Amino acid sequence: MGKTPPEVDRYIKDHRSEFEEDLFEFLRIPSVSADSQHKEDTARAADWVAQQFDQLGFQTERIETSGHPIILSRSPMVEGAPTALVYGHYDVQPPDPLAEWISPPFEPTVRDGNVYARGATDDKGQMLTHLKSAQAWIKVKNSLPLNLIYLIEGEEEVGSEHLEHFIESSQEDLACDCVVISDTSQFAPGQPAITYGLRGIAYYELRLSGPSQDLHSGTFGGAVTNPANALAMLLAKLVDSNGKIQIPGFYDAVVPLTTREREGFQALSFSEQRFQDLVGVKATSGESGFSTLERRCARPSYDINGIWGGYQGEGAKTVLPAKAGAKFSFRLVPDQDPQAISRQLEGFLQEHLPAGITMELIDLHGAPGVVVPLDSPYVEASARAIEHGFGTPPVYVREGGSIPIVSAFTNFLRADSLLLGWGQNDDNTHSPNEKFNLSDYHRGIRTSACLWSELAVIA
Ligand code: BES
Ligand code: MN
Ligand code: MN
Repeated sequence: MGKTPPEVDRYIKDHRSEFEEDLFEFLRIPSVSADSQHKEDTARAADWVAQQFDQLGFQTERIETSGHPIILSRSPMVEGAPTALVYGHYDVQPPDPLAEWISPPFEPTVRDGNVYARGATDDKGQMLTHLKSAQAWIKVKNSLPLNLIYLIEGEEEVGSEHLEHFIESSQEDLACDCVVISDTSQFAPGQPAITYGLRGIAYYELRLSGPSQDLHSGTFGGAVTNPANALAMLLAKLVDSNGKIQIPGFYDAVVPLTTREREGFQALSFSEQRFQDLVGVKATSGESGFSTLERRCARPSYDINGIWGGYQGEGAKTVLPAKAGAKFSFRLVPDQDPQAISRQLEGFLQEHLPAGITMELIDLHGAPGVVVPLDSPYVEASARAIEHGFGTPPVYVREGGSIPIVSAFTNFLRADSLLLGWGQNDDNTHSPNEKFNLSDYHRGIRTSACLWSELAVIA
């Protein structure tokens, strides 16, 4: 077993405030990948990451894409030692609605031991733990016990399209024994988790057009198909009252949950009441026959992410709009194929499209769900490192979010991903007042430093 040298742990302890300052500096860069107005800022975040590696004396490249740059960095070669690839993302979600933030999204502010800022947990804070752990090793020991390849991208929040091409074309360069990712959550405060499954995604924009211009709803209503009515009807048809998605073939490839997995979900201490309190609802719903945890983590789902059409201003306007549209997405589970889902969806919408309406369906991005094996020495090494860093062993969970690139690591590099999350479910990712607990940040760094020792001794 590989233990962290005590001097490395000491360095981590002694540099807490410096590590926090570095995180705050990173968080001040508004690297919103989806917003072209932030293209320069996003590039600045890439440079910031590259500079962190430069300071460690790593060999670092900034790979340009037609989107945002990829930062690739290698620790000094250790002959005969294993290689871990560390993946993370420096891009963040848009901060809106801005009015809901207690402190501005790009002015990191500490309250109650948490740092509040967009990207605090997703993924700047979590990702940085794996850099700061390497810094501790380099500063104290002058070397790392294994080879690290860092692959830090700026397009995770928009589908990771360019990174996928890069990995496909650099398979030999990126050869590694395992992939380390901290972009998930703990199961609960004080209960770290190793995530062994993530859902995939299939994301669409649907645009419906009817009459050539907006019409008076008194003169024309009832005789001319209203695109907003058509949209509401189509979107509603996609799911029934039992939470079953109605697209023919949608469930064909779904790998059913095994009895053992269902028992695993049951065994986790989960309070429905606390969950309802967390999200501020009085009841939950979803696919019949499954528990809340199963619905969130291991079954497909359908959500409208945005919807528009017609009059949105003050008061009433009797209008029959010419256009209406929506963005919506399905979360997928193994072995659903996003491309097959796109074909099935297109057929379903065409079939149910009312007369007098034309549609345009835009496939925005897709990624398959993943399940990674738990019976590996890498998972055992991670569990020991977590016990060292958090003082308690992890539980094993699946999570409902998506990290699109994970399947590329499996398919192109034949490497399994270790999903070691330091975040919390109430960190407000993608929402106002995103936060990251600073103690979790430091525990993450301590765990990561230990992970390098643990992985180094796996033959
Ligand atoms: N870090 C999340 C993924 C995540 C969320 C994992 C919750 C586990 C639990 C990631 O940054 C993310 O938000 N991914 C997007 C992917 C999409 C934009 C392709 C997601 O899940 O919506
Ligand atoms: Mn993330
Ligand atoms: Mn995210």
